[in-house]
Amino acid sequence: MTTTDSTDDGEPTRRDFIHIMGAVTAAAGAGAALWPLIDQMNPDASMLALSTKEVDISSIAVGQAIKVMWQGKPVFIRHRTAEEIAEAEATPLTALKDTKARNDNLGKSADAEDANRRSDANWMIVVGVCTHLGCIPLGTSSGENRGDYNGWFCPCHGSHYDVAGRIRRGPAPDNLEVPPYAFLSDSVVKIG
Ligand code: FES
Repeated sequence: MTTTDSTDDGEPTRRDFIHIMGAVTAAAGAGAALWPLIDQMNPDASMLALSTKEVDISSIAVGQAIKVMWQGKPVFIRHRTAEEIAEAEATPLTALKDTKARNDNLGKSADAEDANRRSDANWMIVVGVCTHLGCIPLGTSSGENRGDYNGWFCPCHGSHYDVAGRIRRGPAPDNLEVPPYAFLSDSVVKIG
């Protein structure tokens, strides 16, 4: 017998068998790879629940902030003081490094004035991922360094964000992203 693709009597050789199994495995692999894509197009209730998060904000005192996880990312929710709101509102666009609002609720290219960064002045809600290289900034838990602008501070390379989550100093190029959110009541906010 030679190393042809079949024996003289037409029976598949061992090499044929390997080729056939390879093709079957590849087809199965393609199907397996495709399934998550198809499945993602039919989100069930549990998937929809995962895409949003309802947070009780009633216990966050003025001046405090919390961190919650949403879609695998940290989100900071800060209950701002009257002084912080006044300071954020008084900051001119010319003082900002990034003048875009980056607010998913609004249109990301709107101006980054404080009013375009939130829907309720008392609450600043931002994705807690530094826009430089993705570290999680400090400033949410009590006693953490809030940086030179009393907002959030990323110690990885020294980026300072203000109380509206806008980058003011350091290597980060963009303001912290504002995720989609809506207040369901005075005490509950839905993120996503
Ligand atoms: S990752 Fe935040 S300053 Fe570099």
